[in-house]
Amino acid sequence: MEQILEVDKLNCIFNKGKKREVTALKSVSFSLGKGECLGIIGESGSGKSTVARIVTRLLSATNGSVMLEGDDLNNISKKELYKKIQMVFQTPVESFNPRLRIGVSVAESLKNAGYSTSETKERVANLLEECGLTSDYANRFPHELSGGECQRAAIARALAISPDILICDEATSSLDVTVQKEIIALLDNIRKAKGEDISIIFISHDIALVQAFCDRVIVMNKGEIVEMGDTDEVIKNPKDEYTKKLIASVL
Ligand SMILES: Nc1ncnc2c1ncn2[C@@H]1O[C@H](COP(=O)(O)OP(=O)(O)OP(=O)(O)O)[C@@H](O)[C@H]1O
Ligand SMILES: [Mg+2]
Repeated sequence: MEQILEVDKLNCIFNKGKKREVTALKSVSFSLGKGECLGIIGESGSGKSTVARIVTRLLSATNGSVMLEGDDLNNISKKELYKKIQMVFQTPVESFNPRLRIGVSVAESLKNAGYSTSETKERVANLLEECGLTSDYANRFPHELSGGECQRAAIARALAISPDILICDEATSSLDVTVQKEIIALLDNIRKAKGEDISIIFISHDIALVQAFCDRVIVMNKGEIVEMGDTDEVIKNPKDEYTKKLIASVL
């Protein structure tokens, strides 16, 4: 499988040299294949979001490298990067500007990409429909949507400029179980429709969801990758002691 993202020996130390020094990542290396869905699990504080934030350049690593299609992430402008990597967060309502109508937020990246006003309007309507909403949701404000609807709109916004990589950081964690299933079904449809054109990093503490959705999984503990492999294999037959405990704790 062709790789789209290669993460090599990432270290991340917060407040380096100070009393409050925290080592959030220790030599984290993995790759993401084209069209692959990679899960990241691990308890709270294990470094999952830190990985996501470094890959999207919201944060700089202390050292190590991230290569996107063979180019060092540091040599790609943020503007270019956001065309290639998009993220969906845990709290959908908060991820939108409360003063902007949903349609305006979804359209933001399209305007930057040079779409005309009429093209943008049509594209926004299509995106909302692809994500299971009707086009009139474009006129609503974030607080006028349910959590699940808002997450659909956040996914529509993330897909607007057809990114190569979608990172979902606990994207279903704040939703109730039925809505979680709907969002996973939506992500699954997106994967089927886009095939190799979209690769997903799916961060979750919900092992059952990861098992249902991801091809491979990374298990993190205290900033380190302790296990990595085929999802079913890792969950059914964990080799690492921490993974065994993590899986046993939810079964
Ligand atoms: N800006 C920061 N300054 C200092 N420490 C930080 C900062 N951001 C994260 N950390 C620390 O880095 C470690 C990893 O945090 P991270 O957010 O990556 O965990 P996580 O696996 O995403 O946890 P959760 O499941 O709770 O979201 C934690 O110990 C956290 O306290
Ligand atoms: Mg997190």
